[in-house]
Amino acid sequence: VALTDSVTSRFKKRNLKLWETTRELRQSTDDLQRTLEQVETVEQRKSHYMRISAHQLRSPLATVRTSLQVLTEGYVEPGTDRGKKLLEGALERLDDLLVTVNGLLDLAKMREGRARAPWTRKVNINQLLADILDALEPLARARDIRLVPEFKGVVILDWGIPPDLVYAFENLIENAIKYSRERGEVTTRLHLNGDRATVEVVDHGIGIPEKFLVDVMHEFVRAPNGKKHAPQGTGLGLAIAREAVEAHGGTLELRSREEEGTTATVSLSIHVKPLKGSTELVGEP
Ligand SMILES: Nc1ncnc2c1ncn2[C@@H]1O[C@H](COP(=O)(O)OP(=O)(O)O)[C@@H](O)[C@H]1O
Ligand SMILES: [Mg+2]
Repeated sequence: VALTDSVTSRFKKRNLKLWETTRELRQSTDDLQRTLEQVETVEQRKSHYMRISAHQLRSPLATVRTSLQVLTEGYVEPGTDRGKKLLEGALERLDDLLVTVNGLLDLAKMREGRARAPWTRKVNINQLLADILDALEPLARARDIRLVPEFKGVVILDWGIPPDLVYAFENLIENAIKYSRERGEVTTRLHLNGDRATVEVVDHGIGIPEKFLVDVMHEFVRAPNGKKHAPQGTGLGLAIAREAVEAHGGTLELRSREEEGTTATVSLSIHVKPLKGSTELVGEP
């Protein structure tokens, strides 16, 4: 009897073990499935991104090619007024193309090279914003727009990548200027609440139509009213800004009403942690 008992108990234990293993296996399978799905989404996003990037580059290239073809095949003489216009047009398209390519490179650099980016301890956001506002003053003045800083408190991040933060805030303030009407006002508000810092860039410009509020954050998306108001633009600025803010563990949100204005809000914790892999210290400002 004792023997049978021990066999039964051993058998029960085995069964339990088997059951546990099966459960763990099922859990791992689920995890694997989820990871696969994530990889697939990333891959899909990548190829979508590549396709729209290529598309963006193709149209100016096609225009330039046509102009050069018309000139080389002798349909238009390069020395004539029409010829000169064609060349000037081609040059302009090439300039646009360069701006787009530079934007794409910035974005790629931020996405891939972030771990290797130089990082700094203690980034003073007040100083950073003041410098950006100084730099953008001529642009604002040219459009008769007043840049108003409203800094409440001093925000110093534990860690940050200053060039990326500059890029983010510069893009937001540039947009506020660009999509404002002449003689408008752009306010850059900074405040600290506990360990959360918020930067709001407020304009009273053309606004973003509600159904574009989410999409304009994606690469190359420009709202129709924005395109009409300012024909030049790559549609990369907000994507870059969001990328940079998220790399600092923060969020970027847009609130807007057409014809009334837009508020871009960046929210950050001052206790930012260095990104995995970034170990190089670039000194303290
Ligand atoms: N402050 C703003 N006011 C109105 N529209 C804006 C503002 N900021 C961004 N937008 C809209 O979002 C689009 C994408 O902005 P962005 O990525 O900076 O690209 P770009 O400025 O080159 O068009 C703009 O084309 C415009 O339609
Ligand atoms: Mg922009």
